Amino acid sequence: MAVLRIHTVPGDEQLLRRRCAEVTEFGDGLKQLAADMLETLPVAKGIGLAAPQVGHSVRMVLIDISRSKDEDDPPEYVPPPPFFLVNPRIVSGDGTASLAEGCLSVPGIRVEVPRQGRIVVEALDLDGRPLTIEAKDLLAIVIQHEMDHLEGRLIVDWSALGCKTWREEDMPADRQVLD
Ligand code: NI
Repeated sequence: MAVLRIHTVPGDEQLLRRRCAEVTEFGDGLKQLAADMLETLPVAKGIGLAAPQVGHSVRMVLIDISRSKDEDDPPEYVPPPPFFLVNPRIVSGDGTASLAEGCLSVPGIRVEVPRQGRIVVEALDLDGRPLTIEAKDLLAIVIQHEMDHLEGRLIVDWSALGCKTWREEDMPADRQVLD
């Protein structure tokens, strides 16, 4: 395993701005990338990571909200362990949710992006088996943020559309960075 370099803008547009390719091979290469992403994310202190952020233009994201227990959560709530989504697709969604999203690839700003509050996602696991997950609130927001990366879309694009934007240093310290 290895901690990978996280690509950032300005500078790494070529990878971060590209639409990523579907994953078609579920062999050792994909599992190595997954292992490296699992090692990289906690070091970067994020809660999600898309493959293009670490230099691989393929449709795979890692979601890890396992350390994100909120004070609003009931005491019995146990956040899900880290998981991968390969070739994810949102098949239905409703409601709205937003928070001041940060991005490891866009240092220094936060953007309040309008997201769906509840989504159903179909994807494959690391062995190519289909899976369906239902997500709401923070989990739904992170998944939508990571899926933006697979289209080459970044929070600066939402900022350019007029979404509320903050400089990092103006944010309250308790705000969460997404990836
Ligand atoms: Ni991001």
